[in-house]
Amino acid sequence: MTKLDIEKVAIIGAGPGGLASIYELSHTNRDGTSTVGTGKSEDPKFTKIVAFEQKDKAGGIWAPSINIADLKAPPQDILDTGKYNDPDVIHPEQKAPGGIENSSFEKPVKIETKKVYNELEWKRSGVYEDLFTNVPARFTRFSYLPNEKKYLDEKRAIYPFLTQEELSGRIEDFVEREGLNEYIRFNTRVEHVTKNAEGKWIITVKQKNEDDGEEYWYKEEFDAVIVSNGHYSVPNIPYIEGLAEFNKTYPGSVIHSKSYRSSQEFKDQKVLVVGFGVSTAGLVQYIVPVAKETIIAQRSPNLVFEWINGALVSKGITRRPEIERIDAVKNEIIFKDGSIERNVDKILLTTGYHFHYPFLQDYLKVVSPSNVSRVNGLYYHTFSIDDPTLATVGVTVAHLNFHTIEASAAAVAGVWSGAKSLPSKQEQKNWEQQHVKDTGNNLVFHFYENDQVKPEFVDKLSPLHPDNRPDIVSEDLKYLNEFDIGTAKSEKLFYQLKDGKLNVKDIFPV
Ligand SMILES: Cc1cc2nc3c(=O)[nH]c(=O)nc-3n(C[C@H](O)[C@H](O)[C@H](O)COP(=O)(O)OP(=O)(O)OC[C@H]3O[C@@H](n4cnc5c(N)ncnc54)[C@H](O)[C@@H]3O)c2cc1C
Ligand SMILES: NC(=O)c1ccc[n+]([C@@H]2O[C@H](COP(=O)([O-])OP(=O)(O)OC[C@H]3O[C@@H](n4cnc5c(N)ncnc54)[C@H](OP(=O)(O)O)[C@@H]3O)[C@@H](O)[C@H]2O)c1
Repeated sequence: MTKLDIEKVAIIGAGPGGLASIYELSHTNRDGTSTVGTGKSEDPKFTKIVAFEQKDKAGGIWAPSINIADLKAPPQDILDTGKYNDPDVIHPEQKAPGGIENSSFEKPVKIETKKVYNELEWKRSGVYEDLFTNVPARFTRFSYLPNEKKYLDEKRAIYPFLTQEELSGRIEDFVEREGLNEYIRFNTRVEHVTKNAEGKWIITVKQKNEDDGEEYWYKEEFDAVIVSNGHYSVPNIPYIEGLAEFNKTYPGSVIHSKSYRSSQEFKDQKVLVVGFGVSTAGLVQYIVPVAKETIIAQRSPNLVFEWINGALVSKGITRRPEIERIDAVKNEIIFKDGSIERNVDKILLTTGYHFHYPFLQDYLKVVSPSNVSRVNGLYYHTFSIDDPTLATVGVTVAHLNFHTIEASAAAVAGVWSGAKSLPSKQEQKNWEQQHVKDTGNNLVFHFYENDQVKPEFVDKLSPLHPDNRPDIVSEDLKYLNEFDIGTAKSEKLFYQLKDGKLNVKDIFPV
């Protein structure tokens, strides 16, 4: 396959995936060698790197807004359509204004807007004050970030985890130390991405000044695009008969886990939690001690964490099967086994998130959108098979999430610098087809267990890394037992918090 020769790169999103991409590209020399570990490249291959970030801060979900959240649920008029399970409906692409064709970064089209904040952008983080990581501190970092000793102290009450504030701080330090902000255009949302007749990518963006309701739209040309917009922003609101009517009858009663901020909202309430995942356990441990009653509607067992299957049916929780329908007039929730819960105050949807690319739908197609869908047409979850100048960083699902992000970003730098070549399109397609056969045409396609990450992902991509690129995971893999310690800790803390024997404020370091 012919070698690529890319110079100008656009990056969509400045969360961990976008930051790793900036770091990797800015540490790749013109000759295709890597300077990771030795400082920024002085003869950089990529002469223009621009990351567009819709928020005013880097860090993605680890740039949380603790006191303000996204909408609890889509607006009522959207709920009333009954199509709220379609991400295109709750997270639509915004059309560019007239005059955009001749615009540029220097000469944007300015429009006045009454929508000072567009809630359907879903850009606020789902991280809340009392959240702690479920991945040990050692692994919640890129290989080139310090493994701070203070977090490895077994005497810490939340060892081996980090509080959300500690992880956000770690990422903030990284951004600061490496001067990554200089590559990022903040408050700038990518709305559309197309390719022109000359084969260049044209990015249409909207920069928004939320203080005065002005938007500045412009187009800009790039050789290649990295999509690192994350997949925990757009809430998955499953279609449930009667849900819209319930929210209309009891405004504010339907809440997605993304907008949970404090258990106080559930104090003395009868709460129905939908889901059986990590978010379910994470929130239920805080809700049970304050709620009047906590019921969980479970569709399937948790296949990732066995302890959750026991925890979510323990004392203080009533388990029900999936919801059949809701009768808002009678305030009845009818479950698939015919059982009924009455007088529910809050329905908390811990039902996960969508992969969603409203700005690039011709290229990144999501199979059957839901919390368990997959993205079609990607070689090793990273390179668009249709167009090698389009890549994604952060699509994989793994506990060793930071390592898989790093491996993808490094492979993009290796291929786009011309140091390495991708296999033929046919070979890439064969890999995708085989992987679907091996895993399924759903989210499991993107999932790697801890012991699979090195042999089945990192080692497959490292031949594509820039020359001399340091190894990503080997050193850390000696400490995988910390995951077992972590799982036991998650379980122990769950019961202590849920049973009111512990207050999270007492175990979070000050
Ligand atoms: C509640 C919760 C807890 C989690 N806990 C852990 C944990 O303990 N450990 C762990 O490893 N992982 C955890 N994760 C997974 C987490 O998503 C990853 O740690 C990490 O944030 C992924 O980075 P990312 O860059 O891919 O996505 P994100 O962090 O989501 O960043 C994507 C960025 O893209 C921006 N963006 C999106 N669309 C656009 C656009 N059109 N234009 C411009 N900018 C855009 C967003 O504003 C955001 O800043 C958790 C996720 C959730 C939801
Ligand atoms: N640091 C932390 O502690 C922390 C906290 C929260 C989240 N996270 C991370 O964030 C990511 C997302 O986790 P998540 O728990 O929000 O989402 P998730 O893993 O997608 O789980 C969603 C849950 O909702 C269920 N569900 C979906 N539709 C349903 C319906 N109609 N009826 C009943 N149940 C339904 C799913 O069941 P099915 O299995 O049947 O689809 C699943 O149990 C994960 O990577 C997780 O590790 C981490």
